[in-house]
Amino acid sequence: MTIFNSVPTQAAHQPSPAEERPIPAVLGADLEVPVKGGRLVGYANLDYAASAPCLEPVSAAVAAALPAYSSVHRGAGYASQLTTARYEQARHTVRAFVGARPDDAVIFTRNTTDATNLLAGCLPDGTTTVVFDTEHHASLLPWKNAVRLAPPAFPGEAVRAADEALAAIDGPKLLVVTAASNVTGELWPIAALAHIAHRHGARIFVDAAQYVPHRRLNLTALDLDYVAFSGHKLYAPFGAGALIGRRDWLADGEPYLKGGGAVRSVAETTEWHDDPEPRHEAGTPNVLGAIALAAACDALSATGWTALVEEEERLIGRLRSGLAAIEGVRELALWGDAHPRVGIVSFTVAGYTAREVAEALSGEYGIGVRDGKFCAHPFVRHLLGESDGGCADGTASAVRASIGIGTTDEHVDRLVEALRDLTARTR
Ligand SMILES: Cc1ncc(COP(=O)(O)O)c(C=O)c1O
Repeated sequence: MTIFNSVPTQAAHQPSPAEERPIPAVLGADLEVPVKGGRLVGYANLDYAASAPCLEPVSAAVAAALPAYSSVHRGAGYASQLTTARYEQARHTVRAFVGARPDDAVIFTRNTTDATNLLAGCLPDGTTTVVFDTEHHASLLPWKNAVRLAPPAFPGEAVRAADEALAAIDGPKLLVVTAASNVTGELWPIAALAHIAHRHGARIFVDAAQYVPHRRLNLTALDLDYVAFSGHKLYAPFGAGALIGRRDWLADGEPYLKGGGAVRSVAETTEWHDDPEPRHEAGTPNVLGAIALAAACDALSATGWTALVEEEERLIGRLRSGLAAIEGVRELALWGDAHPRVGIVSFTVAGYTAREVAEALSGEYGIGVRDGKFCAHPFVRHLLGESDGGCADGTASAVRASIGIGTTDEHVDRLVEALRDLTARTR
């Protein structure tokens, strides 16, 4: 299989300042959308936390792979070998991107939800999961035996509550936590939580869906056991995600899908692969999704992150101070204004439902935001509290604006201006 060796393995390479590449562009930056009156305006996409646009190098990598596209792990033909090599190279790239240990499994999934469900199916019998009510449903719901913790009042309280809950559990235990909230953007103290989990003989799973598009993650340095994320939030909207982490539970767990590729042999009995990757990736995998995901990982890593983080902080700061100056707009936060966060901000607008705001922003201003409870019902209910009136009947919701590569000052200013207009109309 010479061709496998011809694709270079990427090391977890940290570019020096001289090697850093500029932040790549996204597709669709010039998209125009219709607004009231039939005018076309440039689209202000402020919904990156739902799904981010495609990076140009991601689209180019997919286009480059397509002419030789063929079966993976099955064919002896040249194109099959090449496609297989690209798929396996993508695994190395993802491993390097999250700073995984050399022996960690890297399983391609459809998305983060797929990854959490896969992991949930591999937990040793009798495992108790400890999970905060602040989680996205993808990380809140899959676990069979879960202890749910109330939203902590401050980061140290999260560590204290996890400590107490884990101490009370016998048998295998898993702490589940998000690295960056999809509702408030706030960063969680994952290093401290990993430390506490390990002190109690537990493992930690980190939902990095909203973290990896904004910050470098180093699983090894943080001493995390498992992480998962989605390609479509990482500028690679081709239907792949990843679960990365310790092999043993994944090697012993029930194969996620049963079928070709997951088995060594089938006769009277079935002999399943005990390598986690083939064991849980039965059927023809999403090769282009994996190639796209790897291209996004490469493109972000090549920037060196500094410029990317600085630009995001500047833009989110501009947005948050704009929102703070509008009477009737209230930003949602668990841990206060000053707590570090990624480029996500959720808010309510007095006198309007969140759906009314989102529809007006789209229909009148060409701005795309998300409204609702963001698949984090317990958390949003907690943040809104009864004072917002709608919680009891289940209708309370918020507006979320989220930014990333391709967001401009004009997008941010247009949102702030639009909200100023909307709030002025209610007076
Ligand atoms: C923090 C977090 N976790 C998990 C998910 C689920 O991601 P996916 O829909 O790609 O499975 C999301 C999606 O919004 C998220 O924000």
